[in-house]
Amino acid sequence: VRHLLGIKNLTENDIQLILETAREFKDVINRPIKKVPSLRDITIANVFFENSTRTRLSFELAEKRLSADVVNFSASGSSVKKGETLLDTVNNILAMKVDMIVMRHASPGAPHYLSDRIRANVVNAGDGTHEHPTQALLDSFSIQDKLGAVAGKRVAIIGDILHSRVALSNIFCLQKQGAEVMVCGPTTLIPKHINELGVKVSHNVREALNWCDVANVLRIQLERQQIKYFPSLREYSLYYGITKKMLDELDRPIVLMHPGPINRGVELTSDAADSHHSIILDQVENGVAVRMAVLYLLAQL
Ligand code: CP
Repeated sequence: VRHLLGIKNLTENDIQLILETAREFKDVINRPIKKVPSLRDITIANVFFENSTRTRLSFELAEKRLSADVVNFSASGSSVKKGETLLDTVNNILAMKVDMIVMRHASPGAPHYLSDRIRANVVNAGDGTHEHPTQALLDSFSIQDKLGAVAGKRVAIIGDILHSRVALSNIFCLQKQGAEVMVCGPTTLIPKHINELGVKVSHNVREALNWCDVANVLRIQLERQQIKYFPSLREYSLYYGITKKMLDELDRPIVLMHPGPINRGVELTSDAADSHHSIILDQVENGVAVRMAVLYLLAQL
């Protein structure tokens, strides 16, 4: 049984195959009849132990566009609240003849733990501060769409790198495809050993914006901070907040990305988020095709 647990162990060829398959599915979902029968005999459970808007709905739509049967599970409102374990929960779902598990969990490694113990495909829809592989794949797909290629591009990931699963998956995904990556944020929100990943580091948002072709902006993940980090949201927006004026004043065009949810007025002003630089809603659109590709390819293995 095969899984998608992270980008770290994928090859460049794996990534290209997913992105090329996603391109075919993007054509499909732009037709008047958006559905194909590819996963007609497959049942998929979306098992979410953490909140989500984009990822959960995007997986559900991807599954429905592929004609899979779909069930949705949210830990809040379930018997997890009565003390049922992750493994018992998933084994009970699988007993109802479910073939694939798409899981989001707050604990890094939770989908890996599960994949060692069950006989069903596991897709990681975000595990704590670790990885969010389908977000990185849809981000690369969106860069390809906008700029023609990922190879040779300079991508700055700006914000709370320390608590971000999007940052780690994007670093792996972009580097495997030949992009250069810079991370930018306050010292307190950048992991100490980030240099070991071969990325550039900046603590100056204007320097990062001047350097890059693409700025992927992340929110401050207050829910993952065990202690109160410096800076506060007010200080963060003062020193790292990105405005439309800053983007307009750059010497060359820049592509603005954000995985969502945006904290408007903190990491991005509304006029920046909604500007012509932004492809934020294109990322969301592309997410459905990319998730269709991931599910389709896993089902063939
Ligand atoms: N980008 C992302 O993972 O958003 P959600 O938390 O809403 O799924």
